[in-house]
Order: sequence, then C-alpha cells, then structure tokens
Amino acid sequence: MSGLRLIRTRRDLRAEIGAWKAAGLTVGVVPTMGALHEGHLSLVERARAETDRVIVTLFVNPRQFNSAADLAAYPRTEGEDFERLVPAGAHILYVPDPEEVYPPGFATTISVGGVTQGLCGAFRPGHFDGVATVVAKLLLQSQADRAYFGEKDYQQLLTVQRLVADLDLPTRIVPCPTLRDSDGLAMSSRNRRLSPQERDLAGALPRALFDAAGRIGAGEATSPVLASAREALLAAGFSRVEYLELRNAADLAPVETLEGGPARLLVAAFMGEVRLIDNVPVTMA
Ligand code: PAF
Repeated sequence: MSGLRLIRTRRDLRAEIGAWKAAGLTVGVVPTMGALHEGHLSLVERARAETDRVIVTLFVNPRQFNSAADLAAYPRTEGEDFERLVPAGAHILYVPDPEEVYPPGFATTISVGGVTQGLCGAFRPGHFDGVATVVAKLLLQSQADRAYFGEKDYQQLLTVQRLVADLDLPTRIVPCPTLRDSDGLAMSSRNRRLSPQERDLAGALPRALFDAAGRIGAGEATSPVLASAREALLAAGFSRVEYLELRNAADLAPVETLEGGPARLLVAAFMGEVRLIDNVPVTMA
C-alpha cells in the first residue's frame, strides 16, 4: 500500500497536519495545478530532502486565468498525478474542492505591487492577484515550514516571496531551478498541448533566450540583441512574442545594462495557441 494519501477537505488536512506538528515534524508544500512533470517531481524531491512530510497541492485556480478557454484547456490528469507522486515519496496529495478554497461569500483578494508590474502582469490582468490569493491560502491551509517554487515562473516566484515577506507568513520560500528537456525547452504542463510539430519548433525559444543572454553578458547593446532574438523567434515559427525583456533579477525593474547587478531575461511567446514562458539569468562574461 502506498504512503500517499489523497485529501480533499481542509478538515481532513488539518487533522493530518495537526498530528505531524504534535510529533515535531516539519512540513514542506509543493503547490501545483497538476499535469505533473519531472520539474514538479524535482520540487518534491527537494522538499523530501529538506522536510519530514511533503504535501503536494493540486488546484486549477480559476482566479488566475484570464480566459475561460484557457482555463477549460488546462490539462487535468489527477489519476496520473497521484501515480507519479507515489514513487516520489510525497505524503499527501491535497486536491481541494473549489469551495474549500473559495467558500460561498469569499470576498478577499491579495494584490502584490512592484514585481507584478509589466511582463505577465501586463498581459494577464489580475493573474498575480489570483496567484497571490490562492498561494496565501494554500500556505496557511498546509501550515508549511517550507514551500517550493520553480524559477521557470520567475515573476510568480518573486511575487510569492514579496507576499510572504509583507504578510509575515511563517513559510520559507525555496526557489528551485528550471528543468529542461534535451533541446532546452523548459518543462511545463502547457507543453503537452503542443502538437508534435509545434513541440519541435518550440526548441527555438530557449535557444534564442540563451543566445541573447550570452551576447548581452558579453557586452553587446541590449536593444539590438533583443530585436534580433524576437525576429529569430518569429522566423522559427512562433506566431507572437508578447514580451522579451531584460529586468533586474531582484526587483524586476527594467534595465538596459548589467551595471545595476544581476539581471534576468524573460520571455513569453505563442507557439500556435499555446503561450510559453521562460527566463534565464544574465551575467557579465
Ligand atoms: O505555478 C503554478 O502552478 C500556480 O501558479 C500555483 C503556484 C500552484 C498557484 O495556483
């Protein structure tokens, strides 16, 4: 019998965590929207190494989607997700019913400023309010000592760090590196919506990103490098580049050079109907 328990209510979750805490055990949480891949499993592995008990949450959060079509198209694979988590050694898969997260009359929104400006924040109005609100709830419901977030969603990671600092939430946020397929494409639940041909073409995204980061790091002027990277993406089959921007790595302020400290190059682009995001650090060569 597996040690993984499926829990759907706050009540059952609280009872289980209460027993762990009474026994002096530490708790790690990996918040997800399911459709788990190796990237998620690497977060579970890290949580296993650093905490005594690991909760994976699976909740496709309607409040962070901008379109009903995108929400409906989001992959839902709960059975497979459960099976993948058994060998990974997670202890609880928490799949709350929507009213466990948003009970009738729910009227609170958490809105983080600063790092949510621009990038995904500009193209997905309300997205980070939805993320911040649900993450605050999941951290409080799971009473986690540590929570694990991938760097692939870099703006989300900084938003959650700001949220936890500003609201004195007692959870330490642990950033984890992006996992990539062999052609460099960042692992994402959205990749499974790509056709085989689109999946092949999508490898151009990390190539353009790493190439541009290398050139800026070597001292080339940022604007022309970014303009040629945009052209390369469109030539490679991306239908639209929403943004491709150099930002300060700590606060996401727009930057033109690396003089102000470590930078990050962030991109969002459409391959067919699928919106892909990625980012890489940019450092002086
Ligand atoms: O990154 C995600 O999958 C989601 O944004 C998260 C953090 C689980 C909140 O719904």
